[in-house]
This record gives sequence, C-alpha cells and structure tokens, in this order.
Amino acid sequence: MILINYLKSTILSKFVMAVTGIILVLFIIGHCIGNMQLFIGRESFNSYAYFLQERIGELLWIMRIGLILSLIFHVVTSIRLKFLNLGAKPKKYEVKNYVKAKLTSRTMIWTGIMIFAFVTYHILQFTTGTIYPGDYNRTDYYTTNAMSVKKLGSDECCTKSREATAKDAIINYRGNQYETAGNHPIISERHDAYGMVIHGFRRPIVAILYIIGMILLGFHLNHAIQSAFQTLGYNNPKYFNKIVVGSTVLSTLIVLCFISLPITIIFGLVGGGV
Ligand code: HEM
Repeated sequence: MILINYLKSTILSKFVMAVTGIILVLFIIGHCIGNMQLFIGRESFNSYAYFLQERIGELLWIMRIGLILSLIFHVVTSIRLKFLNLGAKPKKYEVKNYVKAKLTSRTMIWTGIMIFAFVTYHILQFTTGTIYPGDYNRTDYYTTNAMSVKKLGSDECCTKSREATAKDAIINYRGNQYETAGNHPIISERHDAYGMVIHGFRRPIVAILYIIGMILLGFHLNHAIQSAFQTLGYNNPKYFNKIVVGSTVLSTLIVLCFISLPITIIFGLVGGGV
C-alpha cells in the first residue's frame, strides 16, 4: 500500500527525496570531518580507518546498508520525478523561459548523475581497491607505542624492523602480530589508508577529478538542502532567506573541507613522509 501511494504521489516522492537526502548529507558531513584526521597524520588517519573497519564492523555494515538504500531510493525517486515533470510540461522546450528556475535547480538531475559516477569511481578506488590496487595494498606497520609508530612509518624501516623483530619474536598465530621478547612494543600490520589517499591524490588527474566532483556536489547540496526544507514545510518566506544563507554556507564548508585534501596533497603540503 505504501509502495503504491509512493508511486502515485508526487508529494510522497518529494518526501522520500528529502529524508534520504538528509541521511546522505549527514553521512557526507561525518565523512568530511573524519577525513580531516589526515591532517593530523598517518597514525591518526589509519587508526580511524582501522576503527571503522575492524572495531565497529557490524555497525558499519548496518550503516552501509542504510546508506545504499537511501542512495537507491534517492536516485530512483529523482528519475521518477523528472519523468513526471516532463509529462506535466509538454511545452517545456517550445518556450525557453527558465526565469523562475535557477541554474542549480534545472541541473539537479545532471549534477546528481555526475556525483553518482564520481562516487562509483571513488568506491572502486578507495573501498574495493579495483583502481590503483598498488595504492590500496599498502601496509602500515604500527605499534601500540605512538613514539615508535613514526619510526616504523616508512617501508624501508618497516621491513627492517619486522625482520629484526621476527628473530626473537613469539609470532601471534591469530593475526599478523609479532610480539617481541622483553619490553619491545607489539608490532602489527594494518591497511595504510593514509598512504593510499596520499598516493592517490598525488596523481594530478585524480586530484582534478575529485575537485570537480566535489564542486558539483556543492551545487547539488546547496539546492537540495533548500528544497528539502520546502518539502518538509519550512517554506515561510520569513525564514526562507535564512535557509538559503544556511545551505550556501554549509555546502561551501563541505566543499572546502573535502577539496582541502587533494589541494594540499598535490602541492606537497601534506604526506611528505610516504
Ligand atoms: C577528499 C575527498 C575524499 C576522501 C579522501 C575520501 C576517502 C574515503 C576513503 C578512504 C574511503 C574508504 C573507507 C573504508 O573503506 O575504510 C571512502 C569511502 C567512501 N566515501 Fe569517501 N572520500 C572523499 C570524498 C567523498 C565524497 C565527496 C563522497 C560522497 C559524495 C564520498 C563517499 C564515500 C562513500 C559512499 C564511501 C563508502 C563508505 C563505506 O562503504 O564504508 N567520499 N572515502
């Protein structure tokens, strides 16, 4: 019944767009803040990635499923609404009068498609490692002692440390851990997400692709946040100006937050050690 209503009703479809859009925006804000750990350093970024992957494994999958469902509903509903709009305005192309529709509003479907393509590329690069597997398969050797982590950071020193450690080590059969005799720290291996991102963005073509993708995301978000508020009933002109300012500030901050990474990496300001 709900599904039939959803298929018939434009209002319900817009509601689905707004709610799924809000979920996606919350994810984007969280992801962006999480990425800022890269500026703190390799240890911080890799611990964060390790925490997400290994420590909250099941919760991560629940979040992923929620995210995928939101994305699917968001995309399918947007296409459906686009077709409904085309059907309702058969003379659209005869009179090219777009005065009321702002550029961002008319281009939502196109920025949406490009963002979808960008996210697909992004997942193939950073989540599955299909693109640039060499970057993805990098290993970070770390210890529980933060001072030593830095020393063990580069590949050259890590190989040596691992050999030296292995000589008098009790090898931990449960994982890739080498427990040394005496007071030495425990050395483990984990995915080098930091190295993967740094090496990824050192390629100018990748950095440029991301910058373009994230600027498009900014335009898309700016209009999306405003229209979500309208759909949810906050369309009083008294507040609407504030919503426009708020959404513009928020989407600009999100774009700046994301693009700060490829820009600082490509100019060599971050990631010199890897
Ligand atoms: C500087 C920009 C970005 C960086 C450095 C970055 C980094 C990453 C990394 C390292 C992962 C893999 C996480 C893991 O599997 O442990 C990831 C996953 C992901 N990113 Fe980004 N990201 C960026 C921008 C974006 C943007 C703009 C979006 C959305 C529009 C986005 C959406 C996603 C999604 C959907 C996943 C998969 C989440 C999951 O399955 O766990 N990312 N990102």
